[in-house]
Amino acid sequence: MKIGILTSGGDCPGLNAVIRAIVRKAILENHTILGIYNGWKGLFDEHYKQLDTKSIAGIINRGGTILGTSRFNPFTEKNGSETLLHKVAKEEFDVIISIGGEGSMHIAQKAYELGVNVIGVPKTIDNDISGTDVTFGFDTAVSIATDAIDRLHTTAESHHRIMILEVMGRHAGWIALHSGIAGGADIILIPEFKMSLDEINEILMKRYKRGKLFSIIVVAEGAEYIMDEIEQGHKNIQTNVKYDDFGRKRLGGVGNYLAEVVEEMSGFETRATVLGYVQRGGVPTAYDRMLGTRLGIHAVKMISEKKFGMMSAVRGSDIIEIPIVDAISKLKTVPTELYEDAKVFFN
Ligand code: F6P
Repeated sequence: MKIGILTSGGDCPGLNAVIRAIVRKAILENHTILGIYNGWKGLFDEHYKQLDTKSIAGIINRGGTILGTSRFNPFTEKNGSETLLHKVAKEEFDVIISIGGEGSMHIAQKAYELGVNVIGVPKTIDNDISGTDVTFGFDTAVSIATDAIDRLHTTAESHHRIMILEVMGRHAGWIALHSGIAGGADIILIPEFKMSLDEINEILMKRYKRGKLFSIIVVAEGAEYIMDEIEQGHKNIQTNVKYDDFGRKRLGGVGNYLAEVVEEMSGFETRATVLGYVQRGGVPTAYDRMLGTRLGIHAVKMISEKKFGMMSAVRGSDIIEIPIVDAISKLKTVPTELYEDAKVFFN
């Protein structure tokens, strides 16, 4: 079969491990495999390269994606559906493997509904795709964020400050929750569960009365309810709202606004650190390399079994497949019980 493989959406540690595994397995099974550059854009630009064992040598430990990526959405282009079908037919692709997050899975599903044989491999540091217990990239992001919290503790303790760490997490606070618990944060703020500014201050004061002269707050960039409360009661927020190519609002900034208000409320010197792209760059953990490898190999097995319109996924210790349509039906958010566990340490 002729397989096209692309990476779409934000880059993520472990992508190269997936690409490597797919290529190695596909070659063993006598498939031809073409790398499509820069996500779905490469299909429109006919930007391809045949991949062999040489092209994927030495990449398992590298962050990013050797194929490049973009948030290009074929279906927001003029005559997008027709162009997509035309390009697939012209290159005689039998199947496209799309490695992507939630936005990219929507595109993959639409392409499948148009009649393209698509297989998905879920990717995101945010860990918010349904139907899979975990996504590769998440473990690396959590490790980096936990390391950042450990380091922030040093200055927090020495200077008796409140330190705020803003991490990624658009709709789901998985990174904030896991790194916050692992790093011993005193307050974790995530999009799924609201905490008022008064409640935040109450926890900080409780700690002060116990003799704790510093605190660590981890906030997910998507905890926008905080921005709303700050705007309503405290100050005007002059955000210059920008959107990405998937039409999603660009996030980032809540940590800095929160720092100003927390300093005012608590009287403690407060500083914010935005972890940003550091948390999705660089070397993937062994866990993410292993997970990416297993998901990639499974994707090629799915081709032989003609399991199109499906996505490889993790359930327990098994790699399975689920319909892409189920994966995109709702986001996987942090459950109440887990947040309740985190709250044990908010004091
Ligand atoms: O991959 C998802 C994500 O990590 C989100 O948490 C974040 O909002 C987004 O990527 C930012 O990525 P970019 O600036 O590359 O669009």
